This record gives sequence, C-alpha cells and structure tokens, in this order.
Amino acid sequence: MEIVILQGPESVGELVAEAIVDQVRRRHHAVLGLATGSSPLPAYRSLVARHRAGEVSFEHVSAVLLDEYVGLQPDHPQAYRQVIRRELVDQVDLPLEHLHSPAVHSGDIPNACRAYEELIASLGGVDLQLLGIGADGHLGFNEPISSLRSRTRIKTLTDRTRADNARFFASGEEVPRHVVTQGLGTILEARHLVLIATGEAKAAPVAAAVEGPLASRCPASVLQLHPHVTVVLDEEAAGRLELADYYRETWRHKPAWQHL
Ligand code: GLP
Repeated sequence: MEIVILQGPESVGELVAEAIVDQVRRRHHAVLGLATGSSPLPAYRSLVARHRAGEVSFEHVSAVLLDEYVGLQPDHPQAYRQVIRRELVDQVDLPLEHLHSPAVHSGDIPNACRAYEELIASLGGVDLQLLGIGADGHLGFNEPISSLRSRTRIKTLTDRTRADNARFFASGEEVPRHVVTQGLGTILEARHLVLIATGEAKAAPVAAAVEGPLASRCPASVLQLHPHVTVVLDEEAAGRLELADYYRETWRHKPAWQHL
C-alpha cells in the first residue's frame, strides 16, 4: 500500500486526476470505477479542466459506479447516477451509454446485483477504482461487518451514514435506508484501488483502515489484502497515522520511473 500525504484537497485532486489521465492514456478503453461523495470532487473538477484543455479524451472509456441508493426516483438529483453525470460524465466526452450503474429500479434487486457483477466482468474488470471512506470506515456502502468477500448486494445504511449524508438532502428523513453497493470482494478485483480522504473527520477511519487490524468492523481495512493500493490524503486526514513520517519519506524518494 502506498500512502501519499499532500497539502490539501486540491493537491489531492490534482494527483488523482493525473493518475486517471495516465491510466486512460495507457489504455484508451480503460474501465474506471467511479465513486461519489465529496472526496473525489476536486479530482473530477481537475479531469474536466484537463479534458477542456485537450489533455485527455474519455471517448473510449467505460465507467462503473460503486454504489447507488435504492428508492430514489431515477432523476432525483442525489441519485448517484445523476451526481456522477453532473460532476463528471456530462462535462467530458465519455458517452452516456458507457456509464454503468446498478439497475436499482428493475423491481428485482438480487437479479440486478448479479447482472451488475456480470457486466463488470464482461467489460474485463475495472482498471482503476476510485474510493472514498465513510466516517465508520465504510467503502462504497459496505457498512461495518460487511463480509470481506462480499459481492454486489443490497445493504442497509447505519444511522451514522444516513446522518452524514443528510447534508445532500432537504431533510435527514429523505436519505434512503437501502442501497446497492459493489461488495468488498468485488472492489478487491479492480486492478488498482485509489482511496481519497481529506479533512480531520477522516483521520480516525483512515488510521483504522491503513494501520489497524484487518477486520470487517472497519470495512476499508480490506485494502490491506490488495496488491496495488494508493491512498491519497491531505495533512488533516493523515493526522492519526503513526507511520506518517515513513510514508512521507517513501514518497519523497519514490523512483522517477515508478507509476502510482
Ligand atoms: C458515501 C459514499 C461513499 C463515500 C463516503 C464518504 O456514503 N457511498 O462512496 O466514499 O460516503 O463520503 P464523503 O467523501 O462525502 O465524505
């Protein structure tokens, strides 16, 4: 696992956008795993700017969403498919038919979950998966005690997560209780995982995920099982890491030929 500690959210966004551009340049038909929440927003803004500057095209790229709410109308502004369209897809040249999300409106959720797994496999798997982390250590919407080998399925949100996400809705009651999320086992199959965390509220879950025990109590600790993980943090989110100096030292001396 590589831990990169940068000054603030904007530098975090720039570095992550650079990694995505690098991935898309190496593989025009790249499959990107996209996350919602506020953490990836600076990276998406940077990608839009880089696209407008002619630095990158997403014409042949496919994108798969990490998770989606159950129970919102498809055109609800907080439905994750709408969020990702607004923040990224509609602002670049990624064709809308290349944007995939779980079919939460199909009326048969278990079948929609199976179909989503098959879809990801048919695309050849995810090249680079962006991830945020919840205050309770969730990854996607895999809440504490999620099986470390779970697949795409329906989950019930904790009160904590519903309260955290209430800021995006008119009232806390409006936040759905149910979601469909890629499982931790599904996420682990992506070839490169990039976790973004910024701000002091993320310091404890980040420390638990990176330096704590591998345990479903902190779902993000499952990252420890993956051979290629990059965790990009700002100083505040890195605030509780015991080995922070070692990570800084490693980053300073990273061989110039080595990709993220
Ligand atoms: C949300 C999303 C996650 C996200 C996390 C943190 O509930 N389902 O994918 O990583 O919570 O969100 P934020 O980045 O806004 O702190």
